[in-house]
Amino acid sequence: GRRVTVRDIAAAKARGERWPMLTAYDAMTARVFDEAGIPVLLVGDSAAMVVYGYDSTIPVTVDDLIPLTAAVVRGSKRAMVVADLPFGSYQAGVAEGLNTAVRFLKETGAHAVKLEGGRRVLPQAEAMVASGIPVMGHLGLTPQSVNAFGGYRVQGRGEDGEELMADAKALEAAGAFAVVLECVPSELAERVTASLSIPTIGIGAGDACDAQVLVWQDMAGLTPRTAKFVKRYADVGTVLGDAARTFAEEVAGGVFPAPEHSYR
Ligand code: KIV
Ligand code: NA
Repeated sequence: GRRVTVRDIAAAKARGERWPMLTAYDAMTARVFDEAGIPVLLVGDSAAMVVYGYDSTIPVTVDDLIPLTAAVVRGSKRAMVVADLPFGSYQAGVAEGLNTAVRFLKETGAHAVKLEGGRRVLPQAEAMVASGIPVMGHLGLTPQSVNAFGGYRVQGRGEDGEELMADAKALEAAGAFAVVLECVPSELAERVTASLSIPTIGIGAGDACDAQVLVWQDMAGLTPRTAKFVKRYADVGTVLGDAARTFAEEVAGGVFPAPEHSYR
């Protein structure tokens, strides 16, 4: 089978089909999610936190994310892989943004890029689209701006909602193929979704969006504390911890390895 493309994404909105996106950062989880039928995998700059242990997405670099993105492409067969552009790799202008996006496509095989912001990054988004690079937008609680927001808080309340709507329309006009709405009131996400012909991908944005995204460690129960908008679909943290504890006990007790794990 072939990979999911931007045409499939557009067709899903035309048909009113909802779809899931998950983050992935390595080949093995990429294969699991790909085989589960997740059509779009995002190598998020959330890797800063869930892979690299930073407490925000600010510090992660292009060089940190390139090998993870390449691994997700190698580990998947069907999914479209979206490379998240990290803070400081596109803000300086069109040339910087284009160079970064080109690096991701050439060096990882990713099929699209994502950047945070609306009208302020429009020249970058337009240049990427003009170069044949599919662009996913990201509005609302854009974590690369956490210092400007003064924390991780709901965005787009009141009059800010009209600014967000204008940003979403500007991204669509610039040729973006989808836009993530993070941590915004459901009513605003519903209005944006109805106003755009490209799909909205919600995270903490209510049930009206065309698609939903979660960070896999959040949805699988690895992250100790999660936001209100996260649903835990599994308790992988407990499963892994139990496996490690049992392994430790069996090594200490001489139970592992048994004859069937040994060569004679
Ligand atoms: O980095 C990330 O994981 C993201 C998603 C939460 C949209 O940007
Ligand atoms: Na991100």
